[in-house]
Amino acid sequence: MDQADKLRKQVELLKEQAPTARVIAVTSGKGGVGKTTLSVNLAIQFRNQGKRVVILDADFGLANVEVMLGIRPQYNLSDMIYHNKSIEEIITEGPMGIGFISGGSGVQDLVNLDKEKLKKLIAKLVKLDSLYDIVIIDTGAGIADSVIEFVLSSPEVLLVVTPEPTSITDSYSLLKAVNRKKEFVREQKSIKVIANRVSSKEEGQEIYDKISIVVSKFLNIQLEYLGYIPDDRKISIAGMEQKPISLSAPDSQPASYIKAVCNRLLDIKEEDGNKPQGIAKVLLDFIKSKKKTS
Ligand SMILES: Nc1ncnc2c1ncn2[C@@H]1O[C@H](COP(=O)(O)OP(=O)(O)O)[C@@H](O)[C@H]1O
Ligand SMILES: [Mg+2]
Repeated sequence: MDQADKLRKQVELLKEQAPTARVIAVTSGKGGVGKTTLSVNLAIQFRNQGKRVVILDADFGLANVEVMLGIRPQYNLSDMIYHNKSIEEIITEGPMGIGFISGGSGVQDLVNLDKEKLKKLIAKLVKLDSLYDIVIIDTGAGIADSVIEFVLSSPEVLLVVTPEPTSITDSYSLLKAVNRKKEFVREQKSIKVIANRVSSKEEGQEIYDKISIVVSKFLNIQLEYLGYIPDDRKISIAGMEQKPISLSAPDSQPASYIKAVCNRLLDIKEEDGNKPQGIAKVLLDFIKSKKKTS
């Protein structure tokens, strides 16, 4: 049993006693398809339903969750690991009490931790599990290692796809890369597709059908359709004004589509009755698979 395995056992034990958060990784094959927009808006919708939500920004490319929420975090995940900051210190409160954690370079650094640091980190992460009901991870796009690893370690994945032809092929490439990893256990993974920026219900269904057929045929992965969000200027304008549509116009049509997706996610959880894995376990699995590839 290696170091990470031992820690994982400890996390398993802790999980039985303490509450654990539901972890949802929002990902895509291609950038610019609406991951951050949906992460932020879903967080607001979950809040409206009384859930305690935190967003972990693991997309180091652009600090866009903070831009969209109009907040400026003082510390990031790295500061918790290397500068002894507490979990509370690295969480910035956004609108409606939504928590926000900037991954910073911390996500990359996770792999280099020695035993003591790793233990400390896990203790802090377990706390995060009791502070929140839902953790949304904005993973970034494409077949970069950390994106694949978040998809591997999160039990629940939201795959954002748009009508652009490259969006479908890039989604396929991402899932193909995930499928190649031996840590990938299809039975333990739920990959749910959101068709974003579509012009009609039919177009959403068409995109889903296209991708789910190839993925099922060539990768033997069964996807699930979560729903669609129309292409609407109100969504992009709200994003630019740093006031997500679910906040600035909660009763608008585009917001109602996001709300429908949120409700569907909450319903699905009730249906399958699984106890959430918790963020501590997900990040530990992330570290484990990252160690293998580096
Ligand atoms: N349903 C939508 N309708 C209109 N614009 C959208 C929609 N979803 C996302 N956008 C816009 O698309 C751009 C990219 O979105 P973003 O969330 O930053 O993508 P990603 O995080 O995947 O890179 C932003 O300008 C955003 O406002
Ligand atoms: Mg983004």
